[in-house]
Amino acid sequence: MTSSQTESFYDAVGGHETFVRLVRTFYVGVAADPELRALYPDEDLGPAEVHLRMFLEQYWGGPTTYSKRRGHPRLGMRHAPFAVTPRARDLWLAHMRTALQASGMTDEQVGQFWAYVSRAAHFLVNSADEPDNPPDLISLEETPSAPSRRRPPSR
Ligand code: HEM
Repeated sequence: MTSSQTESFYDAVGGHETFVRLVRTFYVGVAADPELRALYPDEDLGPAEVHLRMFLEQYWGGPTTYSKRRGHPRLGMRHAPFAVTPRARDLWLAHMRTALQASGMTDEQVGQFWAYVSRAAHFLVNSADEPDNPPDLISLEETPSAPSRRRPPSR
């Protein structure tokens, strides 16, 4: 077996240093984005940065420190306390895209990483966006019911 058949994505992209750089850049972006930053409960983003970095390292075939320290990832459950709206997802992904582009990965590696995080981010949405224009209830009530809703006359 050649080493290219056994090399993990983690090793192929440059190992620990690449993940440190990627997640650091991502959180610099989060820290500078008031809308997304508001979702993170702690004043110090440091622990969140370490957790995400360890998780991604583990996912891509690096050390399994995340599970040793934090247990099963259960990402859905861990995000449940936060309102992850489609808008928050798009902001999160935009910062991840910027960080990936500065990570030194090849376009193909960026594509592979992106396919995973964008799928995961869509899966983690757990709340609806705040509507810009809340529906006007009065005009809704005045709307006649659609003909298809009427029951056919009984024979
Ligand atoms: C969809 C947009 C997302 C938002 C708004 C979001 C937000 C958050 C927040 C607020 C925390 C808590 C940080 C803290 O405890 O201080 C968190 C933790 C975390 N997130 Fe996300 N997240 C998103 C997507 C993702 C994705 C796509 C992944 C992985 C692929 C991910 C992995 C993690 C991990 C590993 C943690 C730490 C869990 C632990 O406590 O061990 N998140 N996220």
